[in-house]
Amino acid sequence: MSSSVITESVIAPACKKEDLLLDSTLRPRQLKEYIGQQKIKESLEIIMEAAKNRGESLEHMLFHGPAGLGKTTLAHILSYEMQANIKVTSGPILERTGDLASLLTNLNDGDILFIDEIHRLNRTVEEALYPAMEDFRLDIVVGKGPSAQVLELNLPRFTLIGATTRIGLLTNPLRSRFGGLFRLNLYSPAEIQTIVNRSAKILNLTIEPNGACAIAGCSRRNPRIANRLLKRVRDFAQVKGDGIINEKMAKKAFSMLEIDNSGLEKIDRDILKVIVEKFGGGPIGVQTLAAAIGEEEDTLVDVYEPYLMELGLIARTPRGRVVTANGYQHLGLKHIAKKI
Ligand code: ADE
Repeated sequence: MSSSVITESVIAPACKKEDLLLDSTLRPRQLKEYIGQQKIKESLEIIMEAAKNRGESLEHMLFHGPAGLGKTTLAHILSYEMQANIKVTSGPILERTGDLASLLTNLNDGDILFIDEIHRLNRTVEEALYPAMEDFRLDIVVGKGPSAQVLELNLPRFTLIGATTRIGLLTNPLRSRFGGLFRLNLYSPAEIQTIVNRSAKILNLTIEPNGACAIAGCSRRNPRIANRLLKRVRDFAQVKGDGIINEKMAKKAFSMLEIDNSGLEKIDRDILKVIVEKFGGGPIGVQTLAAAIGEEEDTLVDVYEPYLMELGLIARTPRGRVVTANGYQHLGLKHIAKKI
């Protein structure tokens, strides 16, 4: 987050302890509690039942899609439903083959290894994963130079579950070793409303239907953001109202947080403004844009862009990002069509 942005972002990735705790309290444990992603749930039910009937471990699976849609939650649900242990790690944490080896050799048959941000694995570790995924074998090089030897380690029949926001960055050999690839989509407003009501119940809150509807409307169709907004409105209702969460409280809280009716935060509007004011509406390369708004390129691409694109406010062209006519309209500006 750029130091020039003072307002705390509701949509930025989960990192604070409090948010992680909230995520885990509200996270559904069983597939039947999980709201939305109907097609994925149906497929997972069949895959799990078939594996159980055959007495086998689950196939390796990859979940991809924008942050906050429930990829990690699904991995934990699979471990719960299969009564399997789960070990959680992430691409950037696994720096050496040895890190991977110590994780894999400590697993048992049927256990799940969850690798978040799997697109950020380095090449050496990724290549060590290929035989591990395919033949449950790990080739370890012992020693150096001409006397180096390859040690073949047999591994338990584990299940790898990978998660990524950037499927396009995965290499073909890695992607093709997953038995199931699932793309998580944005949730419908009705599904988000159901999630908000479920979370409110877990947190013991009183919420009116118009309050759940207002929160869903600003949630960017993303459960993680919806749950964070719920928390913010809860705080607001507790301090400025009678604790009851309704539309009025939600609207006041959102206005204070500078979240507009489409669920856009100041940073989103800043992105649009920067493209228009500094780069003539685009096209502008993603690296330049990230530098101009003082954000990491990954955060721009994974967190902010998906929803701006979903709303049709910006578009991706081969030469970079452009603000669309809708984007201009959102800023209250007149759009002059350019030849690009
Ligand atoms: N909390 C966050 N995501 C959820 C989902 N998909 N279903 C139920 N509760 C959730």
